[in-house]
Amino acid sequence: MPWIRACAGGELEEGDAVVVPSEPPVALFHSDGEYHATADTCTHGQFSLADGFVEEAVVECALHSAKFCLRTGKALTLPATEPLRTFPVRVEDGEVYVEIDDAMIKEPVS
Ligand code: FES
Repeated sequence: MPWIRACAGGELEEGDAVVVPSEPPVALFHSDGEYHATADTCTHGQFSLADGFVEEAVVECALHSAKFCLRTGKALTLPATEPLRTFPVRVEDGEVYVEIDDAMIKEPVS
């Protein structure tokens, strides 16, 4: 499966997130000194978790406050009950990469 570049290592501050260009979108979070990649769309509704609040490897959706574990994707609080998909992350030569499915690669805009 392809690895796509998410950001430069020093680019993402602790507690921040960036959306990786894939379909469906994946969010890369920097929390607890680590990088975590999950589906960006909250499983409760169509809302970007990259816009949520991140602390101690947990993201809180900014729309209805469901919390998810960034390590496992598990839904920790209502109203979400379904887990988030998680994705492997690796850091190489100062760049952060996320492994996604072939089918998730977005065609370049021409
Ligand atoms: S859309 Fe995220 S908790 Fe409702």
